[in-house]
Amino acid sequence: LRSVNEIELPAAFDAHVHLRDGEMSQLVTPTIRRGGVNQVYVMPNLVPPITTIQQCLEYRDRLKAIDPSVDYLMSLYLHESITPEVIREAKKAGITGVKSYPAGVTTNSSSGVVDYATFYPVFAEMEKQNMVLNLHGEVPSTPTHAPSSTTTKDDVPTPAITILNAEPAFLPTFKALHERFPNLRIILEHCSTAAALAAVRACGPTVAGTITAHHLSLIIDDWAGDPFCFCKPVAKTPEDRDALLKAVVSSQGRFFLGTDSAPHDSRKKRGEDKIAAGVFTQPYAVGLVLDALEKGVERGVLAEGDVSQEVLEGFLGGWGRGFYGAEETRGERIVLKRGGEDIVDVLRKDGVSVDVVPFRRGEQTWSVSW
Ligand code: NCD
Ligand code: DOR
Ligand code: ZN
Ligand code: ZN
Repeated sequence: LRSVNEIELPAAFDAHVHLRDGEMSQLVTPTIRRGGVNQVYVMPNLVPPITTIQQCLEYRDRLKAIDPSVDYLMSLYLHESITPEVIREAKKAGITGVKSYPAGVTTNSSSGVVDYATFYPVFAEMEKQNMVLNLHGEVPSTPTHAPSSTTTKDDVPTPAITILNAEPAFLPTFKALHERFPNLRIILEHCSTAAALAAVRACGPTVAGTITAHHLSLIIDDWAGDPFCFCKPVAKTPEDRDALLKAVVSSQGRFFLGTDSAPHDSRKKRGEDKIAAGVFTQPYAVGLVLDALEKGVERGVLAEGDVSQEVLEGFLGGWGRGFYGAEETRGERIVLKRGGEDIVDVLRKDGVSVDVVPFRRGEQTWSVSW
């Protein structure tokens, strides 16, 4: 990779995007292809969340109207109104999956899941219908002034939950879901720890994990103090980041790109209120992954030969499409050129009143041409 200045690849598949709605969607949806992507799996955490088939199909129509040259795979937001009957209808309507947010952990997740067991009949129907369950794999934090650990009736101390251990603490739930529904296709979204990677690998072939571009480069210190690097799950230790890099090149299809590109108006990132979680990477998705892999080679975490054409084609498209059964029917290819793109300081559009600051603003990355 380091000796190469130009790479040709099939157009990429981004298995986890936030395109929002209204003005924000007008701003960010046209940047999907700029990032080298022509097919996306769209998250449902709008306000209000997408919990009905009609809302979902109408949302897809609005996205298609903005850019008809992208394929939008759609999801519903797991919610008490989602019943096995809704799952059967969703399948017929061409909806791909259901995203589960634990109540209260992230953007617009106030109507998320409190108890997974409540949804076992829904998961059973999803398994039957071959739909995908996308897990936001974190448990909610312990309130600040609650005890720092609790002891269960078996005398096992349970540590308090913070954003640093929220993902590892979710892994027993993840494992239990897979054991109960072994044929249900499950994706542990935005894996951010070595522990999450190990948990995915320990599951059967119905389970995969997505990895974002930003978790391949960020560590804790990067977001402490920088709102544009703050997301959920937060980036963790250098060891976790390096485990993610290694997972990309040794994935064998278990891990693939889902950017979790999550645009927020810059005022929600810099304002006086609580800072919104989300890193915006959409217009540079493929270039940012290449840069992170290259830094991994420079640090000696990866060998030059690890970042093969096969790995790039798989991680950036083939493996995710394989898991979703989503053919790339357009046969489009992209050419990336080293250093060919200047990352803008802020993404704006005429007639749109919101603006978004992208990850690594002001730096250079690979350009994409079609
Ligand atoms: C996103 C958010 O902020 O809403 N994530 C997060 O905070 N971890 C949503 C998502 O991951 O789907
Ligand atoms: O950082 C995040 N932003 N994490 C999520 O889970 C949601 C997302 C968003 O929607 O902004
Ligand atoms: Zn999530
Ligand atoms: Zn997300």
